[in-house]
Parts: sequence; C-alpha cells; structure tokens
Amino acid sequence: MNIDKVRNAFMDHFGGVAGVVYASPGRINLIGEHTDYNGGFVFPGAIDKAMVAEIRLNGTDRVRAVAIDLGETADFGLCEENAPAQQWARYIFGVCREIIKRGGQIGGFDTAFSSDVPLGAGMSSSAAMESVYAFALNELFALKIDKFELARIGQATEHNYCGVKCGIMDQFASLFGKEGRLMLLDCRSMEYKYYPFNPAGYKLVLLDTVVKHELASSAYNERRLSCERVAAAIRRNHSEVEYLRDATLDMLDEVKDSISEEDYRRAQYVIEEVQRVMDVCAALEQGDYETVGERMYGTHRGMSELYEVSRPELDFLNDVARHCGVAGSRVMGGGFGGCTINLVKENRYDAFVAEAFAAFRDRFGHEPRLYDVVISDGARRLE
Ligand code: GLA
Repeated sequence: MNIDKVRNAFMDHFGGVAGVVYASPGRINLIGEHTDYNGGFVFPGAIDKAMVAEIRLNGTDRVRAVAIDLGETADFGLCEENAPAQQWARYIFGVCREIIKRGGQIGGFDTAFSSDVPLGAGMSSSAAMESVYAFALNELFALKIDKFELARIGQATEHNYCGVKCGIMDQFASLFGKEGRLMLLDCRSMEYKYYPFNPAGYKLVLLDTVVKHELASSAYNERRLSCERVAAAIRRNHSEVEYLRDATLDMLDEVKDSISEEDYRRAQYVIEEVQRVMDVCAALEQGDYETVGERMYGTHRGMSELYEVSRPELDFLNDVARHCGVAGSRVMGGGFGGCTINLVKENRYDAFVAEAFAAFRDRFGHEPRLYDVVISDGARRLE
C-alpha cells in the first residue's frame, strides 16, 4: 500500500501537521455475480490492494483534494448542488452529500489519496474510494453511522453521482472484509457469515485482460432493468416474488410469452446463479474444491451466453484455463472487461500462467496482468 507516497504528497501539497491515514480495499468475488441487486447471495472477500487516503479537517466548508496518481486536484463546497467535473472527485463529493442527506454533520477537509487497486479490472476500485471516505468521515466527525449504512452511502454515491445502479456487494466487501475470510452475504436481509478460505493445494489467481468496455455502466444498468421487469412479470402470478432471487425456472417459464427473449435469458442466468452460490457453500463445507470450480465455469458460461457481459478476451482466458486443467475459472465482477478469477491446483499453476500469457499475447497482442489473491482486512485507520 502507498502509505509513504500519500504522506509525502499530502505534506508537499498542504504542509502543516499531518492528517490521519485510512485504507479501504478492493475485492474479489468467488461466486454470485449480478445477484446482489436481485436480492441474492454473493461471496466476496477484501484484498490486499487498497485506496489509501490522508485526511485533515480544515475548519471550512470546502474540500480540497489531491489525486496523487493522476496529478490532479479538485476543490468543492460541501453545500454545492453540482458535482465536480472530474469523475474521481464525484466519489468524494457524493459520499459527503449522501452523509449530509442522512443528517450527518461534517465540515471541510484536505485530502490526498492513492490506490493500488487496478482500475477497470473488476476489483471495485470505486467502492474502495467511496468506502475509505465514508469510513474516515464517520470516524473523524464521530457520526456513529453503522457499517451497513456506510456501504449504502457508497452505493448511493454510485447511483446518484456516477450513474451506475450497482448493488451492495462491493462496498460491503470493502468495509466488512477480514483477513483470510470470504463472506457469504444475503443481499436482501444483509445477514452475513465469514468463511475461512484456505483451500489446501489450490491458489486463487486473477488474470486481468486490461480491456474495459466503454459503455459498461449503461449496459450494467440495462441488465438490472431486465431483471426488474422479469421479477415484476413473475410477481403477477406469485406475489411472494420480491426479487429474482425468489423465483424458480418454472416460474420463469410461466411468463416466457410475455417477456422478451433477452429478458428471459438474463433472468435464467440470475436464477441459476443464485443456486450456484448455494452449491458452492455446500461444497466448501465438504472441502470439495472441484465442485466449487465447476460452478465457477458454470457462472462464466452464464455470464457469457445468457447475461452477455463477457468479452472475447475473457472467454479466451476461460478456454485456456479449462484446457490447462484449472479447477475453476470465470469472469469476475460486473463484466464487460477486467479479470478472470481462477482456482488452480498448485501443481498446475506455473504451466497455466505460462500458457495463458503466451496464448493471450499471440491472440490479442498484449499480455494480461496477473494478481495473486491475498484475502485481507476491510476499511481501517492506518495511523
Ligand atoms: C459490480 C457492482 C456490484 C455487482 C457486480 C456484479 O461490481 O458494483 O454491485 O452487481 O458488479 O456481481
């Protein structure tokens, strides 16, 4: 993590006494993709890559911010209605506005930040940013907002200031993460359980395609609308169906003629994905990682063929993984680019990585990036 870098940049820019440094991480997700906004289950964990921010209250009603990695600055008032132009500043602005909307009394501050969560890789760099500011401001202004609400503040920032109608998984993972533990979260009740995750003899590795679809947020929002339309159609026959999470494939078939083929495919994916998360929980309790891996392949197929959020680069890496005998592999996160997450037997790891790099370079002209996964703690004060 970039603690010294942040400390030095903060001092260079603002001078005076040091502020307080906070960190909030990116996340992986073992399985349960596009299930969160369908009231379903997700299985994320925080990682050892994080947004690090130094913050010092400045006694005004303005925020002065330095994006160290971009070499940019922003300055905005807490009472302003219009969000700043720079995307990164909108995250800070949104978090402040959402806290104020909830009655939280905050004042101005100076801040500098830097992140080693890869951008656009599906590891939730934006949730790391929202979470670090929500967590820090809550503590610095003694607001006593609970961590679930901090997660909702980050989510509302995405909805209201960034145009992404995301679910709650990323902010939850960034705030609640625990070293060595994955978390099974029920996104309707918000009940969650920590699962130790040390699959003996296996490694989790991310391969980043380093590609990102430009229209990812509108495509994401369209997927969500499809799900809501189908849930509403099913609800006409089954009033207990609040979200697709409550639906079965039989219920979906009952409304087949009244929804589009595309919406049908989207809903089929979600209903099957909810079941796959349950299967993975049962398999983990038995230490059955081969079944975990098979379900990951199932998710990839669904995300590629039914939900249509994959890309040729991701499908290619998935094929290479299967070919190399990798236990499980799939596109991770929202899709449209970013990473595959791979569960690999240790004795196949080297061969897989070598093959994936060589084959990917031959096919697409650039190398993927590799990240070994280290499951780490969530949002925290560093010093
Ligand atoms: C993005 C969103 C999450 C979730 C995933 C897909 O990361 O921010 O809420 O929907 O996509 O599982």
